[in-house]
Amino acid sequence: MIRACKVSLAVVTYLILALSWGTFMSADAKETVKQATFGKMPDGTPVYLYTLGNTQGMEVKITNYGGILVSVSVLDKDGKVGDVVLGFDRLEDYLKGHPYFGAIVGRYGNRIAKGRFPLGGRTYTLATNNNENHLHGGLRGFDKAVWKAEPLTSVEDAGLKLSYLSKDGEEGYPGNLNVTVIYTLTRRNELRIEYAATTDKPTVVNLTNHSYFNLAGSGTVLEQELVINADKFLPVDKGLIPIGVLQSVKGTPMDFTTPEKIGERIDQDFEQLKIGGGYDHCYVLNKPGLRNVAAKAFSAGSGRLLELFTTEPAVQLYTGNFLDGTLKGKGGRIYQKRSAFCLETEHYPDSPNHPAFPSVVLNPGQKYSTTTIYKFSVASSINSR
Ligand code: GLA
Repeated sequence: MIRACKVSLAVVTYLILALSWGTFMSADAKETVKQATFGKMPDGTPVYLYTLGNTQGMEVKITNYGGILVSVSVLDKDGKVGDVVLGFDRLEDYLKGHPYFGAIVGRYGNRIAKGRFPLGGRTYTLATNNNENHLHGGLRGFDKAVWKAEPLTSVEDAGLKLSYLSKDGEEGYPGNLNVTVIYTLTRRNELRIEYAATTDKPTVVNLTNHSYFNLAGSGTVLEQELVINADKFLPVDKGLIPIGVLQSVKGTPMDFTTPEKIGERIDQDFEQLKIGGGYDHCYVLNKPGLRNVAAKAFSAGSGRLLELFTTEPAVQLYTGNFLDGTLKGKGGRIYQKRSAFCLETEHYPDSPNHPAFPSVVLNPGQKYSTTTIYKFSVASSINSR
């Protein structure tokens, strides 16, 4: 009895110490999750910054404000660690407003035309925040929510589980939606993002992460190479809403089925590129699934290769066309036009208004579940792996 008490006292003491140091270790004490204070919301709610580290020198920082990926530090070809995503050093800067840097985007990532959609014989009206359209969940989307956070560790992985209850009627969406997003940094330098959700009324869901990547860690991404395993994309109207057809990329500057520099054709006189001010389009993946590379990007200067895998049917390529040099990011860096690319894995934009597109409806009793993996490595060319 006394012995049992001593053992449980030791366990409790260990837990208290571990918690007060803010460090959670996996079984073999290698992959780690550290928790630090990041700041406070205007109402005083504390916000934290979690650092996930692996044994390969890769480190990822995530805040529970918006589930934002604040930094992703990976080695380059010279063994130097550098941060490959855009963002800010301080919570205050995120609170001032920003174009979804690293954020979890929902309840519906991308656009819904005129902020309206039919479901179950009713028309729902959403907040409009992109001219007449609804973008990335509305005025206060998941990118601005304070998520509940729970560090997770296993033998080979460091993780963070984020949870959020999006209430019935939030931004106009029907149904209480219970959302969890699990970020995992693996020993294979993969950042895995698992999204899950359940609802108590029929609703629409399309979750993604809006990280802005720059594999060189500075400058623009125009020289960085890209492959997207998609033969088709969704042409859009002037409001960037899909017109409803799938168009072949063949023979157009939209074609990334073979490696191309992002900047090579971006300013060509091609109507879709003029509308987007560059690439801001949804690519329909040839082979979704975690066994197939959906896209890959490479910086010859740094030697960093990013490979993307997803269970989602599409990916939005956005080349930071709206960045204009007015935002000062981490370390005082000015974020100029096209200083990053986003690969937002998702269902097609405006799907709720296009019955022919894959469905985004989630019903009570069903589970929404998608996974996306960003895998980093060093390579000599985009094709060397
Ligand atoms: C998405 C959209 C873009 C833009 C950015 C945020 O990727 O498709 O048009 O709104 O988000 O600035």
